[in-house]
Amino acid sequence: MENRKRKTGNVKPGELTSFLFPVFHFLECGGRERDNGGRRIHMASDDQILDPERIKAFIENVYGQLSGAVVSGMIHLGDRLGLYRALQGSGPLTSQELADKTGLHERWLREWLRGQAAAHLIEHRGEGRFELSIEGALALADENSPLFAAGGFYSLPQQFALLERLPESFRTGIGHAYDAFGVEGAIGIERFLAPWFRTFLVPLVLPALDGVVPKLQSGGRVADVGCGAGVALIEMAKAYPQSDFHGYDISRHALERARSNAAAAGARNVAFHDAGVDPIPADGSFDLVTSFDCIHDMTDPAGMMRAVRRALKADGTWLIADIKSKPTFEENLERNPMAAMMYSISVLSCLSSSMSEPGGAGLGTLGFSEPVAREMTAAAGFTRFEKHDFDNPVNAYYEVRP
Ligand SMILES: C[S@@+](CC[C@H](N)C(=O)[O-])C[C@H]1O[C@@H](n2cnc3c(N)ncnc32)[C@H](O)[C@@H]1O
Repeated sequence: MENRKRKTGNVKPGELTSFLFPVFHFLECGGRERDNGGRRIHMASDDQILDPERIKAFIENVYGQLSGAVVSGMIHLGDRLGLYRALQGSGPLTSQELADKTGLHERWLREWLRGQAAAHLIEHRGEGRFELSIEGALALADENSPLFAAGGFYSLPQQFALLERLPESFRTGIGHAYDAFGVEGAIGIERFLAPWFRTFLVPLVLPALDGVVPKLQSGGRVADVGCGAGVALIEMAKAYPQSDFHGYDISRHALERARSNAAAAGARNVAFHDAGVDPIPADGSFDLVTSFDCIHDMTDPAGMMRAVRRALKADGTWLIADIKSKPTFEENLERNPMAAMMYSISVLSCLSSSMSEPGGAGLGTLGFSEPVAREMTAAAGFTRFEKHDFDNPVNAYYEVRP
């Protein structure tokens, strides 16, 4: 220890967390560090300088990422086991009371509750009692809340399982379409995106589009390209029973889910099509086409845009919602607080989908910024482009017309 203290300058045991000692040991064995009388350590060569405070901050960041990953797994379990719903509006509960309420094992619940309290997701009220706050219920328990976020954790097991196959994608360049996540993947996207569609699409977004609502009231023709499990399309179909609604997707699982969602909603004016064999017709018959969070996922977004242009009436409207992003990586890095999550989701699913065929466009989660949207829609033959701001933290909205 004496030797270690001497060789690492002013670094004292306990000043850094103990997991740094192996680093110092490494330095002593393999690096050419020397005591420079300051708080910095020279490593393998004189131009590589280690600052203990910077090391500490870096290691804390690394473990913070691991914390996010494993706590995310616990949110998945809390949602899947109905724990947030059981806690909602129940006041402070002990783990035994939660066990009695859910029929689950007390010891496991106690550990889960303690972890949730440490992650500031559930409040510890003292004496072993835990409570889900009102904000916690809006985000984690109430599926009808526009703030419901637990759906985003639903298909984590399937997404993380794909990590086994992604090294091969890094080698070959070929990713995986959404069906690689199985039916759980389709349900996960549905639960992630549905709260906003259910709450805002019909009352807020459609009325903001020039002349669209009167057409839908009197009987128009609508397509949703990249419709997923059909939530947006079904919401519109229920609101405008005089109109005809067609959903297009290439995911077998999403289409199955969409058909059963439409049946459950009793929506008879909706049909779903496998875009791979039955694409949107090039017949200029549609009054409105919508695309929600899917252009950046497509292997051939330019081709899809030309198809939408051919499918729309001359006075038709294309509503695009896609992930809000800055035009450059540097701006995303500096000003997009969700950039780390978005680029990582991209590797797991969006980029992977957009590279799932040879020659895939590979836009990725943050690749469809406004300038890209303007340029690509103009290239596909659209002449009008208007941006809308509906206060959605994740999505940008564009009204695009021939
Ligand atoms: C992130 S999901 C969004 C689904 C849906 N719009 C929603 O908001 O729930 C992207 C969807 O785009 C679909 N997709 C990808 N490429 C497509 C293509 N060429 N044509 C139609 N759908 C496509 C995927 O299968 C997936 O269902």
